[in-house]
Amino acid sequence: MADLSVNLCGIKLRNPTILASGVLGVSGDTMKRVYDIGAGAITLKSITNEARKGHPGPVMLATDHYFMNAVGLSGQGVEGVKDEVKILKDAGVPVIASVFAASFEECGDIAARFESYGVDAIELNISCPNLSAGEKFGVTIGTSCDLTAQNTAAVKKKTSIPLIVKLSPNVTDIVPIAKAAVDAGADMIAAVNTFGPGLKIDIEAARPVLSNKLGGVSGPGILPLALAIIWRLRQAIEVPIIAMGGITKYEDVIEMMMAGADAVAIGTGVYYSGIAIFRELNIGLSDWLDSHGYQSISEIKGLAQKA
Ligand SMILES: Cc1cc2nc3c(=O)[nH]c(=O)nc-3n(C[C@H](O)[C@H](O)[C@H](O)COP(=O)(O)O)c2cc1C
Repeated sequence: MADLSVNLCGIKLRNPTILASGVLGVSGDTMKRVYDIGAGAITLKSITNEARKGHPGPVMLATDHYFMNAVGLSGQGVEGVKDEVKILKDAGVPVIASVFAASFEECGDIAARFESYGVDAIELNISCPNLSAGEKFGVTIGTSCDLTAQNTAAVKKKTSIPLIVKLSPNVTDIVPIAKAAVDAGADMIAAVNTFGPGLKIDIEAARPVLSNKLGGVSGPGILPLALAIIWRLRQAIEVPIIAMGGITKYEDVIEMMMAGADAVAIGTGVYYSGIAIFRELNIGLSDWLDSHGYQSISEIKGLAQKA
């Protein structure tokens, strides 16, 4: 049977499928179930210092082709997640903690706190599009090379575990942003967060479906857009890339790996197929690699770049 394991800056994963940030929250018990059913690692929902309310409902909608959300980074503060991380680390689950904050300094402090909880890596979320007017984090940072570099450096200074910077696709050119993050100390890049903003109108009610009106678009429809971004990033940077955006089938994982990804994350796919998607993806990957004569998944990394 083909070897599905990957190594991300010293973090050994039994397979390349990671739960993406935000889609299942931070509950240790839930995250452990995701790992038990097959995920190689889990990413916690983005967390800041204090609890946040987020937007009122409805905050999500699903169609056959795409998903839209405007959750607005709701959730508990960093203190409230300590016990959840303990559940996961006691069970040997590789954990990525996603952080954001209103200041770079605070971002570094939250990341350091997570490191003290024993997480394996920090993911810096500079790419959330669903913020209220005046909030200066998320995509406000991720559209500027300078702010990206400053935020990355501030977190890097206060932590020693691998730092992943998660990028927004909603920029004119993502390559300089990725390079700014890497030059400032990012050990890995995660790409992409949701596209948008998008809009869905309920034609009977003649009003937007989401309470926030606009939302970030994810799910199957964004796969080719995300794939092209991974393709371009692989040509520009050498650090590991965690690819996400629209993955629902094992073939999508293979495409992302052939474009140059080192691992993949699945978000919306969990809404469509449940957490069993991780088991299905790994069975599909393993069978495909075996039937095509590959010994390990690392053999297909970047293969399409050589064509
Ligand atoms: C409901 C929902 C909540 C999300 N929350 C977060 C979050 O807290 N932090 C983050 O970095 N990304 C968040 N995302 C973005 C996903 O992690 C992922 O980058 C994006 O949805 C694209 O992947 P997908 O098509 O597999 O969902 C969220 C996405 C959804 C659908």
